[in-house]
Amino acid sequence: MATLSDRYADWTQKLSRHHQTHLLRFWTELTDGERAQLLDDLDQVDFELCASLIETHVRQRPTVHIPEHIEPPPSYPAEPGPDRADLYNRARRTGEEALRAGRVAAFTVAGGQGTRLGFDGPKGAFSISPVRNATLFQLFAEGLLGVERRYGRRPRWYIMTSPVNHAQTTAFFADHRYFGLRADEVVFFQQGQMPAFLPDGRMALAERHRLALSPDGHGGSLRALRERGALDDMRAHGIDTISYFQVDNPLVRTIDPLFIGLHLLTGSEMSSKAVTKAFDTEKVGNFCLVDGRVTVIEYSDLPESLATARNADGSRRFDAGSIAIHVLSRSFVERLTAPGARVQLPWHRAEKKVPTVDDAGRVAEPTAPNAVKLELFVFDAIPLAERPLVLFTRREEEFSPVKNAEGVDSPATTRRDLVRRAARWLEACGVPVPRGVDGEPAAPLEISPAFALDVEDLRARLATMPPLKVEPGRPLLLA
Ligand code: UTP
Repeated sequence: MATLSDRYADWTQKLSRHHQTHLLRFWTELTDGERAQLLDDLDQVDFELCASLIETHVRQRPTVHIPEHIEPPPSYPAEPGPDRADLYNRARRTGEEALRAGRVAAFTVAGGQGTRLGFDGPKGAFSISPVRNATLFQLFAEGLLGVERRYGRRPRWYIMTSPVNHAQTTAFFADHRYFGLRADEVVFFQQGQMPAFLPDGRMALAERHRLALSPDGHGGSLRALRERGALDDMRAHGIDTISYFQVDNPLVRTIDPLFIGLHLLTGSEMSSKAVTKAFDTEKVGNFCLVDGRVTVIEYSDLPESLATARNADGSRRFDAGSIAIHVLSRSFVERLTAPGARVQLPWHRAEKKVPTVDDAGRVAEPTAPNAVKLELFVFDAIPLAERPLVLFTRREEEFSPVKNAEGVDSPATTRRDLVRRAARWLEACGVPVPRGVDGEPAAPLEISPAFALDVEDLRARLATMPPLKVEPGRPLLLA
Protein backbone atom coordinates (compact mmCIF):
# COMPACT_ATOMS: atom_id res chain seq x y z
CA MET A 1 0.00 0.00 0.00
CA ALA A 2 1.34 3.44 -0.96
CA THR A 3 2.57 5.60 1.90
CA LEU A 4 1.18 9.03 2.50
CA SER A 5 4.31 10.67 1.13
CA ASP A 6 4.21 8.51 -2.05
CA ARG A 7 0.61 9.45 -2.58
CA TYR A 8 1.40 13.09 -1.92
CA ALA A 9 4.20 13.04 -4.48
CA ASP A 10 1.89 11.47 -7.11
CA TRP A 11 -0.83 13.95 -6.43
CA THR A 12 1.49 16.94 -6.57
CA GLN A 13 2.42 15.96 -10.11
CA LYS A 14 -1.09 15.13 -11.19
CA LEU A 15 -2.58 18.30 -9.74
CA SER A 16 0.13 20.36 -11.36
CA ARG A 17 -0.78 18.85 -14.75
CA HIS A 18 -4.39 19.81 -14.11
CA HIS A 19 -3.71 23.29 -12.68
CA GLN A 20 -5.25 22.34 -9.33
CA THR A 21 -2.26 22.57 -6.98
CA HIS A 22 -4.15 25.03 -4.75
CA LEU A 23 -5.94 21.95 -3.34
CA LEU A 24 -2.76 21.09 -1.43
CA ARG A 25 -2.02 24.59 -0.17
CA PHE A 26 -2.77 23.77 3.47
CA TRP A 27 -0.81 20.49 3.39
CA THR A 28 1.87 21.54 5.88
CA GLU A 29 -0.80 22.55 8.41
CA LEU A 30 -2.75 19.27 8.27
CA THR A 31 -2.52 16.25 10.54
CA ASP A 32 -1.73 12.90 8.91
CA GLY A 33 -5.36 11.87 9.29
CA GLU A 34 -6.50 15.03 7.51
CA ARG A 35 -3.92 14.52 4.80
CA ALA A 36 -5.16 11.00 4.14
CA GLN A 37 -8.73 12.28 4.00
CA LEU A 38 -7.83 14.94 1.45
CA LEU A 39 -6.06 12.40 -0.76
CA ASP A 40 -9.02 10.03 -0.42
CA ASP A 41 -11.27 12.83 -1.67
CA LEU A 42 -8.95 13.41 -4.63
CA ASP A 43 -9.01 9.68 -5.42
CA GLN A 44 -12.75 9.96 -6.05
CA VAL A 45 -12.36 12.52 -8.83
CA ASP A 46 -12.01 11.70 -12.51
CA PHE A 47 -9.55 14.48 -13.39
CA GLU A 48 -9.50 13.69 -17.13
CA LEU A 49 -13.27 14.05 -17.31
CA CYS A 50 -13.16 17.22 -15.20
CA ALA A 51 -10.47 18.75 -17.41
CA SER A 52 -12.76 18.75 -20.42
CA LEU A 53 -15.86 19.75 -18.44
CA ILE A 54 -14.01 22.74 -16.97
CA GLU A 55 -13.54 24.04 -20.52
CA THR A 56 -17.05 23.28 -21.78
CA HIS A 57 -19.24 23.70 -18.68
CA VAL A 58 -17.43 25.69 -15.98
CA ARG A 59 -15.45 28.51 -17.54
CA GLN A 60 -18.36 29.07 -19.87
CA ARG A 61 -22.01 28.14 -19.93
CA PRO A 62 -22.59 25.29 -22.34
CA THR A 63 -24.83 26.33 -25.18
CA VAL A 64 -28.16 24.60 -24.88
CA HIS A 65 -29.17 23.50 -28.33
CA ILE A 66 -32.90 23.88 -28.73
CA PRO A 67 -33.87 22.00 -31.89
CA GLU A 68 -36.20 23.62 -34.37
CA HIS A 69 -38.64 20.76 -34.73
CA ILE A 70 -40.24 19.85 -31.47
CA GLU A 71 -43.49 17.89 -31.44
CA PRO A 72 -45.60 16.44 -28.66
CA PRO A 73 -44.61 12.80 -28.03
CA PRO A 74 -46.83 9.79 -28.59
CA SER A 75 -48.29 8.71 -25.27
CA TYR A 76 -50.66 6.30 -23.59
CA PRO A 77 -53.62 7.77 -21.65
CA ALA A 78 -54.25 7.10 -17.96
CA GLU A 79 -57.60 5.51 -18.81
CA PRO A 80 -57.70 3.51 -22.04
CA GLY A 81 -60.39 4.18 -24.62
CA PRO A 82 -62.20 1.20 -26.19
CA ASP A 83 -59.36 0.82 -28.71
CA ARG A 84 -56.84 0.16 -25.97
CA ALA A 85 -58.90 -1.59 -23.28
CA ASP A 86 -57.66 -4.99 -24.37
CA LEU A 87 -54.03 -3.85 -24.49
CA TYR A 88 -54.25 -2.43 -20.95
CA ASN A 89 -55.79 -5.66 -19.66
CA ARG A 90 -53.07 -7.73 -21.27
CA ALA A 91 -50.44 -5.30 -19.95
CA ARG A 92 -51.74 -5.64 -16.40
CA ARG A 93 -51.56 -9.42 -16.64
CA THR A 94 -48.10 -9.31 -18.18
CA GLY A 95 -46.86 -6.99 -15.43
CA GLU A 96 -48.32 -9.25 -12.73
CA GLU A 97 -46.73 -12.33 -14.29
CA ALA A 98 -43.33 -10.61 -14.44
CA LEU A 99 -43.72 -9.61 -10.81
CA ARG A 100 -44.65 -13.12 -9.72
CA ALA A 101 -41.72 -14.51 -11.66
CA GLY A 102 -39.41 -12.27 -9.62
CA ARG A 103 -38.27 -10.30 -12.69
CA VAL A 104 -39.07 -6.86 -11.25
CA ALA A 105 -37.14 -4.82 -8.67
CA ALA A 106 -37.91 -1.50 -7.01
CA PHE A 107 -35.21 1.16 -7.26
CA THR A 108 -35.22 4.35 -5.18
CA VAL A 109 -32.79 7.17 -5.85
CA ALA A 110 -32.07 8.69 -2.45
CA GLY A 111 -28.63 10.20 -2.86
CA GLY A 112 -29.71 13.84 -3.07
CA GLN A 113 -28.83 16.46 -0.49
CA GLY A 114 -32.39 17.67 0.08
CA THR A 115 -31.15 21.22 0.63
CA ARG A 116 -34.52 22.83 -0.06
CA LEU A 117 -36.32 20.78 2.60
CA GLY A 118 -33.54 21.49 5.07
CA PHE A 119 -34.17 18.30 7.09
CA ASP A 120 -31.26 17.07 9.19
CA GLY A 121 -30.98 13.51 7.92
CA PRO A 122 -31.63 11.47 4.79
CA LYS A 123 -34.84 12.66 3.14
CA GLY A 124 -36.30 9.15 3.29
CA ALA A 125 -36.22 9.42 7.10
CA PHE A 126 -38.58 12.39 6.97
CA SER A 127 -41.97 11.73 8.64
CA ILE A 128 -44.80 12.40 6.28
CA SER A 129 -47.90 10.24 6.69
CA PRO A 130 -50.97 12.08 8.01
CA VAL A 131 -51.93 9.86 10.97
CA ARG A 132 -48.90 7.76 11.99
CA ASN A 133 -46.25 10.21 10.85
CA ALA A 134 -44.59 7.29 9.08
CA THR A 135 -41.46 8.13 7.14
CA LEU A 136 -41.04 8.09 3.39
CA PHE A 137 -38.88 4.96 3.57
CA GLN A 138 -41.49 3.19 5.70
CA LEU A 139 -44.25 3.96 3.18
CA PHE A 140 -42.17 2.58 0.30
CA ALA A 141 -41.41 -0.58 2.32
CA GLU A 142 -45.13 -0.94 3.03
CA GLY A 143 -45.77 -0.52 -0.70
CA LEU A 144 -43.59 -3.57 -1.31
CA LEU A 145 -45.34 -5.51 1.46
CA GLY A 146 -48.64 -4.57 -0.19
CA VAL A 147 -47.35 -5.88 -3.52
CA GLU A 148 -46.44 -9.16 -1.84
CA ARG A 149 -49.87 -9.42 -0.18
CA ARG A 150 -51.67 -8.77 -3.43
CA TYR A 151 -49.49 -10.49 -6.02
CA GLY A 152 -47.69 -13.10 -3.96
CA ARG A 153 -44.12 -11.92 -4.49
CA ARG A 154 -42.04 -9.29 -2.69
CA PRO A 155 -39.76 -7.40 -5.04
CA ARG A 156 -36.12 -6.84 -4.18
CA TRP A 157 -35.40 -3.19 -3.34
CA TYR A 158 -32.32 -1.25 -4.46
CA ILE A 159 -31.64 2.08 -2.77
CA MET A 160 -29.05 4.49 -4.07
CA THR A 161 -27.49 6.68 -1.41
CA SER A 162 -24.48 8.98 -1.58
CA PRO A 163 -21.51 9.57 0.70
CA VAL A 164 -23.55 12.46 2.12
CA ASN A 165 -26.16 10.13 3.64
CA HIS A 166 -25.13 6.47 3.20
CA ALA A 167 -24.20 5.67 6.80
CA GLN A 168 -27.27 7.45 8.18
CA THR A 169 -29.57 5.70 5.71
CA THR A 170 -28.35 2.18 6.39
CA ALA A 171 -28.41 2.83 10.16
CA PHE A 172 -31.99 4.11 9.84
CA PHE A 173 -33.09 0.88 8.17
CA ALA A 174 -31.27 -1.26 10.73
CA ASP A 175 -32.81 0.73 13.61
CA HIS A 176 -36.27 0.12 12.14
CA ARG A 177 -35.68 -3.56 11.36
CA TYR A 178 -36.01 -2.88 7.67
CA PHE A 179 -39.68 -1.99 8.15
CA GLY A 180 -40.69 -5.63 8.00
CA LEU A 181 -38.52 -6.54 5.00
CA ARG A 182 -35.54 -8.86 5.24
CA ALA A 183 -32.17 -7.14 5.49
CA ASP A 184 -30.79 -9.22 2.62
CA GLU A 185 -33.47 -8.10 0.18
CA VAL A 186 -32.69 -4.39 0.53
CA VAL A 187 -29.54 -3.47 -1.38
CA PHE A 188 -27.88 -0.13 -0.66
CA PHE A 189 -25.18 1.31 -2.86
CA GLN A 190 -23.55 4.71 -3.18
CA GLN A 191 -23.50 6.96 -6.18
CA GLY A 192 -20.48 8.90 -7.40
CA GLN A 193 -19.55 12.45 -6.54
CA MET A 194 -18.32 15.47 -8.48
CA PRO A 195 -16.30 18.42 -7.21
CA ALA A 196 -17.76 21.91 -7.14
CA PHE A 197 -15.80 24.42 -9.22
CA LEU A 198 -14.99 28.07 -8.79
CA PRO A 199 -15.91 30.03 -11.92
CA ASP A 200 -12.24 30.14 -13.03
CA GLY A 201 -12.12 26.33 -13.20
CA ARG A 202 -10.38 25.60 -9.90
CA MET A 203 -11.97 22.91 -7.75
CA ALA A 204 -13.31 24.23 -4.46
CA LEU A 205 -12.17 23.14 -1.01
CA ALA A 206 -14.97 22.76 1.54
CA GLU A 207 -12.44 22.64 4.38
CA ARG A 208 -8.68 22.83 4.41
CA HIS A 209 -8.53 19.05 4.04
CA ARG A 210 -11.82 18.33 2.23
CA LEU A 211 -12.72 18.77 -1.38
CA ALA A 212 -16.20 20.26 -1.94
CA LEU A 213 -17.77 17.10 -3.36
CA SER A 214 -21.45 16.49 -4.01
CA PRO A 215 -23.51 13.68 -5.56
CA ASP A 216 -23.37 13.59 -9.36
CA GLY A 217 -27.14 13.80 -9.95
CA HIS A 218 -29.86 11.16 -10.26
CA GLY A 219 -28.47 10.37 -13.70
CA GLY A 220 -25.41 9.08 -11.87
CA SER A 221 -27.64 6.20 -10.80
CA LEU A 222 -27.10 4.36 -14.08
CA ARG A 223 -23.32 4.25 -13.75
CA ALA A 224 -23.58 3.52 -10.02
CA LEU A 225 -25.89 0.57 -10.72
CA ARG A 226 -23.10 -0.97 -12.74
CA GLU A 227 -20.04 0.13 -10.77
CA ARG A 228 -21.47 -0.76 -7.38
CA GLY A 229 -22.47 -4.25 -8.48
CA ALA A 230 -26.24 -3.73 -8.42
CA LEU A 231 -26.67 -4.86 -12.05
CA ASP A 232 -24.73 -8.04 -11.28
CA ASP A 233 -26.90 -8.59 -8.22
CA MET A 234 -30.02 -8.14 -10.35
CA ARG A 235 -28.77 -10.58 -12.95
CA ALA A 236 -27.99 -13.13 -10.24
CA HIS A 237 -31.55 -12.78 -8.93
CA GLY A 238 -33.23 -13.06 -12.34
CA ILE A 239 -34.31 -9.40 -12.35
CA ASP A 240 -34.60 -7.77 -15.77
CA THR A 241 -37.00 -4.88 -15.10
CA ILE A 242 -36.34 -1.90 -12.81
CA SER A 243 -39.11 0.23 -11.29
CA TYR A 244 -37.42 3.60 -10.66
CA PHE A 245 -38.77 6.29 -8.34
CA GLN A 246 -37.53 9.19 -6.23
CA VAL A 247 -37.36 9.26 -2.46
CA ASP A 248 -39.55 12.34 -2.16
CA ASN A 249 -42.91 11.17 -3.55
CA PRO A 250 -44.90 9.00 -1.10
CA LEU A 251 -47.86 8.74 -3.48
CA VAL A 252 -45.86 6.66 -5.96
CA ARG A 253 -46.97 3.13 -6.76
CA THR A 254 -43.65 1.46 -6.07
CA ILE A 255 -44.52 -1.31 -8.51
CA ASP A 256 -47.28 -0.76 -11.06
CA PRO A 257 -48.25 -3.90 -13.03
CA LEU A 258 -49.93 -1.88 -15.80
CA PHE A 259 -46.88 0.34 -16.34
CA ILE A 260 -44.49 -2.62 -16.18
CA GLY A 261 -46.68 -4.68 -18.49
CA LEU A 262 -46.92 -1.92 -21.11
CA HIS A 263 -43.14 -1.53 -20.93
CA LEU A 264 -42.66 -5.24 -21.53
CA LEU A 265 -45.37 -5.71 -24.16
CA THR A 266 -44.15 -2.79 -26.29
CA GLY A 267 -40.49 -3.75 -25.98
CA SER A 268 -39.65 -0.36 -24.47
CA GLU A 269 -36.19 0.07 -22.97
CA MET A 270 -37.17 3.02 -20.79
CA SER A 271 -40.70 4.04 -19.92
CA SER A 272 -41.90 7.14 -18.12
CA LYS A 273 -45.00 8.33 -16.33
CA ALA A 274 -46.38 11.76 -17.13
CA VAL A 275 -49.03 14.00 -15.63
CA THR A 276 -51.06 16.70 -17.32
CA LYS A 277 -49.27 19.96 -16.57
CA ALA A 278 -51.02 22.22 -14.07
CA PHE A 279 -50.21 25.34 -16.13
CA ASP A 280 -48.13 26.20 -19.19
CA THR A 281 -44.89 27.02 -17.42
CA GLU A 282 -45.10 24.58 -14.53
CA LYS A 283 -41.62 23.67 -13.26
CA VAL A 284 -41.58 20.12 -14.58
CA GLY A 285 -39.73 18.63 -17.52
CA ASN A 286 -41.75 18.45 -20.75
CA PHE A 287 -41.96 15.23 -22.74
CA CYS A 288 -41.34 16.15 -26.39
CA LEU A 289 -40.50 14.45 -29.65
CA VAL A 290 -37.23 15.88 -30.95
CA ASP A 291 -35.97 14.57 -34.27
CA GLY A 292 -38.07 11.49 -33.78
CA ARG A 293 -36.73 10.76 -30.28
CA VAL A 294 -38.68 11.14 -27.05
CA THR A 295 -36.83 13.71 -24.96
CA VAL A 296 -37.48 15.64 -21.76
CA ILE A 297 -36.95 19.37 -22.19
CA GLU A 298 -36.63 21.26 -18.93
CA TYR A 299 -39.26 23.92 -18.28
CA SER A 300 -36.58 26.60 -18.43
CA ASP A 301 -35.47 25.45 -21.90
CA LEU A 302 -38.86 25.03 -23.56
CA PRO A 303 -39.49 28.07 -25.78
CA GLU A 304 -42.44 30.09 -24.48
CA SER A 305 -44.23 29.84 -27.83
CA LEU A 306 -44.29 26.06 -27.37
CA ALA A 307 -45.12 26.14 -23.67
CA THR A 308 -48.23 28.19 -24.45
CA ALA A 309 -49.16 26.50 -27.76
CA ARG A 310 -52.68 25.10 -28.10
CA ASN A 311 -54.27 22.34 -30.17
CA ALA A 312 -57.28 23.10 -32.39
CA ASP A 313 -59.62 22.07 -29.54
CA GLY A 314 -57.96 24.55 -27.16
CA SER A 315 -56.06 21.95 -25.12
CA ARG A 316 -52.38 22.48 -24.28
CA ARG A 317 -50.11 21.13 -27.01
CA PHE A 318 -47.17 20.22 -24.76
CA ASP A 319 -49.04 18.81 -21.85
CA ALA A 320 -46.97 15.88 -20.60
CA GLY A 321 -45.04 16.78 -17.46
CA SER A 322 -42.34 14.42 -16.20
CA ILE A 323 -42.73 13.08 -12.64
CA ALA A 324 -39.54 11.03 -12.44
CA ILE A 325 -41.22 7.62 -12.38
CA HIS A 326 -39.68 5.20 -14.85
CA VAL A 327 -39.32 1.58 -15.77
CA LEU A 328 -35.91 0.65 -17.16
CA SER A 329 -34.82 -2.60 -18.70
CA ARG A 330 -31.72 -3.92 -17.01
CA SER A 331 -30.24 -4.66 -20.44
CA PHE A 332 -30.64 -0.99 -21.38
CA VAL A 333 -28.71 0.16 -18.32
CA GLU A 334 -26.07 -2.47 -19.11
CA ARG A 335 -25.76 -1.19 -22.68
CA LEU A 336 -25.57 2.49 -21.67
CA THR A 337 -22.94 1.90 -19.02
CA ALA A 338 -20.81 -0.72 -20.77
CA PRO A 339 -17.11 0.11 -20.71
CA GLY A 340 -16.38 2.18 -23.81
CA ALA A 341 -20.09 2.84 -24.45
CA ARG A 342 -20.39 5.33 -27.27
CA VAL A 343 -23.09 7.52 -25.80
CA GLN A 344 -22.88 9.35 -22.51
CA LEU A 345 -25.49 11.36 -20.64
CA PRO A 346 -24.87 15.10 -20.92
CA TRP A 347 -23.73 17.12 -17.92
CA HIS A 348 -25.89 19.96 -16.61
CA ARG A 349 -24.45 23.07 -15.01
CA ALA A 350 -25.97 24.69 -11.93
CA GLU A 351 -24.68 27.73 -10.09
CA LYS A 352 -24.92 27.10 -6.34
CA LYS A 353 -23.92 28.49 -2.97
CA VAL A 354 -21.04 26.29 -1.81
CA PRO A 355 -19.19 27.03 1.44
CA THR A 356 -15.46 27.17 0.62
CA VAL A 357 -12.28 27.99 2.52
CA ASP A 358 -10.53 31.28 1.98
CA ASP A 359 -6.75 31.62 1.82
CA ALA A 360 -6.61 31.92 5.61
CA GLY A 361 -8.28 28.49 5.83
CA ARG A 362 -11.55 29.88 7.17
CA VAL A 363 -14.85 28.50 5.83
CA ALA A 364 -16.92 31.24 4.23
CA GLU A 365 -20.70 30.84 3.84
CA PRO A 366 -21.58 32.51 0.55
CA THR A 367 -24.67 34.69 0.33
CA ALA A 368 -24.94 34.31 -3.45
CA PRO A 369 -24.06 31.46 -5.85
CA ASN A 370 -20.28 31.25 -5.97
CA ALA A 371 -19.59 27.87 -7.54
CA VAL A 372 -20.59 25.59 -10.38
CA LYS A 373 -21.93 22.09 -9.77
CA LEU A 374 -22.28 19.52 -12.53
CA GLU A 375 -24.99 16.86 -12.52
CA LEU A 376 -26.40 14.09 -14.68
CA PHE A 377 -30.17 13.69 -15.10
CA VAL A 378 -31.74 10.26 -15.52
CA PHE A 379 -34.32 11.48 -18.05
CA ASP A 380 -31.50 12.20 -20.50
CA ALA A 381 -31.35 8.43 -21.02
CA ILE A 382 -34.83 8.43 -22.62
CA PRO A 383 -33.72 9.58 -26.10
CA LEU A 384 -31.08 6.84 -26.03
CA ALA A 385 -33.69 4.15 -25.41
CA GLU A 386 -35.40 2.07 -28.08
CA ARG A 387 -39.19 2.32 -28.19
CA PRO A 388 -39.49 4.61 -25.14
CA LEU A 389 -43.01 4.83 -23.79
CA VAL A 390 -44.87 7.65 -22.02
CA LEU A 391 -47.87 6.68 -19.88
CA PHE A 392 -50.10 9.35 -18.38
CA THR A 393 -51.20 8.93 -14.81
CA ARG A 394 -53.42 11.10 -12.64
CA ARG A 395 -51.43 13.56 -10.57
CA GLU A 396 -53.77 13.34 -7.58
CA GLU A 397 -53.25 9.57 -7.52
CA GLU A 398 -49.51 9.42 -7.88
CA PHE A 399 -47.52 12.61 -7.54
CA SER A 400 -46.99 15.03 -4.68
CA PRO A 401 -43.30 15.36 -3.85
CA VAL A 402 -41.74 16.81 -0.70
CA LYS A 403 -39.25 19.33 -2.03
CA ASN A 404 -39.53 22.54 0.00
CA ALA A 405 -39.92 23.28 3.71
CA GLU A 406 -43.00 25.41 3.00
CA GLY A 407 -45.34 26.39 0.18
CA VAL A 408 -45.63 24.30 -2.98
CA ASP A 409 -44.38 20.72 -2.83
CA SER A 410 -43.88 20.87 0.92
CA PRO A 411 -44.78 18.44 3.73
CA ALA A 412 -48.09 20.28 4.16
CA THR A 413 -49.17 19.82 0.53
CA THR A 414 -47.98 16.21 0.42
CA ARG A 415 -49.92 15.31 3.61
CA ARG A 416 -52.97 17.11 2.24
CA ASP A 417 -52.72 15.09 -0.98
CA LEU A 418 -52.34 11.81 0.92
CA VAL A 419 -55.51 12.62 2.90
CA ARG A 420 -57.39 13.68 -0.23
CA ARG A 421 -56.45 10.46 -1.98
CA ALA A 422 -57.51 8.32 0.98
CA ALA A 423 -60.85 10.18 1.05
CA ARG A 424 -61.43 9.62 -2.67
CA TRP A 425 -60.63 5.91 -2.34
CA LEU A 426 -62.98 5.52 0.64
CA GLU A 427 -65.80 7.34 -1.12
CA ALA A 428 -65.26 5.23 -4.24
CA CYS A 429 -65.80 2.21 -1.96
CA GLY A 430 -69.05 3.67 -0.65
CA VAL A 431 -67.68 4.98 2.68
CA PRO A 432 -68.97 8.52 3.26
CA VAL A 433 -66.27 11.03 4.23
CA PRO A 434 -67.41 14.14 6.13
CA ARG A 435 -65.97 17.32 4.67
CA GLY A 436 -65.43 20.80 6.05
CA VAL A 437 -66.77 24.01 4.54
CA ASP A 438 -63.62 24.20 2.41
CA GLY A 439 -64.48 20.81 0.89
CA GLU A 440 -61.47 19.10 2.48
CA PRO A 441 -61.91 15.82 4.42
CA ALA A 442 -62.86 16.70 8.01
CA ALA A 443 -60.52 14.11 9.58
CA PRO A 444 -56.94 12.96 9.03
CA LEU A 445 -57.12 9.78 6.95
CA GLU A 446 -54.35 7.34 6.20
CA ILE A 447 -54.33 4.13 4.19
CA SER A 448 -51.05 2.27 4.40
CA PRO A 449 -49.97 0.83 1.05
CA ALA A 450 -49.51 -2.44 2.95
CA PHE A 451 -53.28 -2.35 3.57
CA ALA A 452 -54.41 -1.31 0.08
CA LEU A 453 -52.58 -0.32 -3.09
CA ASP A 454 -55.52 1.21 -4.95
CA VAL A 455 -59.30 1.52 -4.96
CA GLU A 456 -59.98 -2.07 -6.10
CA ASP A 457 -57.61 -3.39 -3.48
CA LEU A 458 -59.33 -1.27 -0.82
CA ARG A 459 -62.77 -2.45 -1.90
CA ALA A 460 -61.71 -6.07 -1.52
CA ARG A 461 -60.19 -5.38 1.91
CA LEU A 462 -63.21 -3.47 3.21
CA ALA A 463 -65.55 -6.25 2.08
CA THR A 464 -63.99 -8.49 4.73
CA MET A 465 -64.45 -5.96 7.57
CA PRO A 466 -67.36 -4.51 9.56
CA PRO A 467 -68.63 -1.27 7.94
CA LEU A 468 -66.33 1.72 8.41
CA LYS A 469 -67.50 5.07 9.68
CA VAL A 470 -65.44 8.21 9.28
CA GLU A 471 -66.14 10.71 12.08
CA PRO A 472 -65.30 14.40 11.78
CA GLY A 473 -62.07 15.18 13.61
CA ARG A 474 -61.31 11.53 14.40
CA PRO A 475 -58.16 10.21 12.72
CA LEU A 476 -58.72 7.07 10.65
CA LEU A 477 -55.87 4.68 9.96
CA LEU A 478 -56.07 1.60 7.79
CA ALA A 479 -52.77 -0.25 8.24
P1 UTP B 1 -33.88 16.67 -6.36
O1 UTP B 1 -33.62 17.18 -7.71
O2 UTP B 1 -35.17 17.09 -5.74
O3 UTP B 1 -32.65 17.05 -5.43
O4 UTP B 1 -33.79 15.11 -6.37
P2 UTP B 1 -32.41 16.86 -3.88
O5 UTP B 1 -30.92 16.79 -3.73
O6 UTP B 1 -33.18 15.73 -3.30
O7 UTP B 1 -32.96 18.18 -3.20
P3 UTP B 1 -32.43 19.68 -3.28
O8 UTP B 1 -32.47 20.08 -4.73
O9 UTP B 1 -31.05 19.69 -2.69
O10 UTP B 1 -33.42 20.42 -2.43
C1 UTP B 1 -34.77 14.31 -6.92
C2 UTP B 1 -34.49 12.86 -6.53
O11 UTP B 1 -33.23 12.47 -7.03
C3 UTP B 1 -32.41 12.01 -5.98
C4 UTP B 1 -32.96 12.65 -4.73
O12 UTP B 1 -32.57 11.92 -3.59
C5 UTP B 1 -34.43 12.61 -5.02
O13 UTP B 1 -34.96 11.32 -4.79
N1 UTP B 1 -31.02 12.42 -6.27
C6 UTP B 1 -30.74 13.70 -6.62
C7 UTP B 1 -30.04 11.49 -6.12
O14 UTP B 1 -30.29 10.31 -5.80
N2 UTP B 1 -28.75 11.88 -6.37
C8 UTP B 1 -28.42 13.13 -6.74
O15 UTP B 1 -27.24 13.41 -6.96
C9 UTP B 1 -29.46 14.07 -6.87
